[in-house]
Amino acid sequence: MDKFNIAIDGPAGAGKSTIARLVAGALGFVYVDTGAMYRAVTWKVQQEGLRPDQESEIVAIANRMRIELIPRAEGQQVIVDDIDVTKAIRTTAITDDVSQIASIGAIRQLLVAMQKQMAISKGVVMDGRDIGTHVMPDAEIKIFLTASVSERAERRFKEMQSSGSCTMTLQELEHDIARRDQMDQEREISPLKRAHDAVLMDSTSMSIEEVVDEILGLCKDKV
Ligand code: C5P
Repeated sequence: MDKFNIAIDGPAGAGKSTIARLVAGALGFVYVDTGAMYRAVTWKVQQEGLRPDQESEIVAIANRMRIELIPRAEGQQVIVDDIDVTKAIRTTAITDDVSQIASIGAIRQLLVAMQKQMAISKGVVMDGRDIGTHVMPDAEIKIFLTASVSERAERRFKEMQSSGSCTMTLQELEHDIARRDQMDQEREISPLKRAHDAVLMDSTSMSIEEVVDEILGLCKDKV
């Protein structure tokens, strides 16, 4: 099968990561979670004791740090300067600051350049907020995956409960998701938005398997 690229964008908690990982596994493609890269920068910033509004210091740190994304069957491993931060980048403290750091133009420039590089040899399923619009505008398949805020919060809540890492109430989670959606949609540089040629999928009342099957169905036309 010829390789091609798939871009999956959408708001927080729409199921992008799980779905992108399963689609990549089914096709034998590489899954790239770009949100993890913004989270990795946020982790480093917090390690250095900086606030998210210290832009020039943040940009200097981001230029010095090394981010490695290692594809694993269970997901993507994230290494920052030889430290495994895969779990550490999922804490509430990181989630609280990540969207502000992701709105810094120079940070986006740096990470988008890395992401474009990863997509050059094709066979990539990349998820994020600006993949279909900026990172892979030529992706053969583009999906904009969404679901209602309450459904997304409920899914995250269940996920956190089952992993024993639930530190927020359902209401707090819903509030946090709505806050991040707003910041991501309203930022000046590459805001979250559906690419004109992206297929819109509302997964509110769809199972993960149904969404994966629908995307794989779209891929059949490309083979
Ligand atoms: O995907 P995830 O929720 O882990 O992403 C964390 C944050 O990183 C998002 O809320 C968004 O602010 C930012 N992000 C971004 N562009 C991407 C991926 C993530 O701005 N391509």
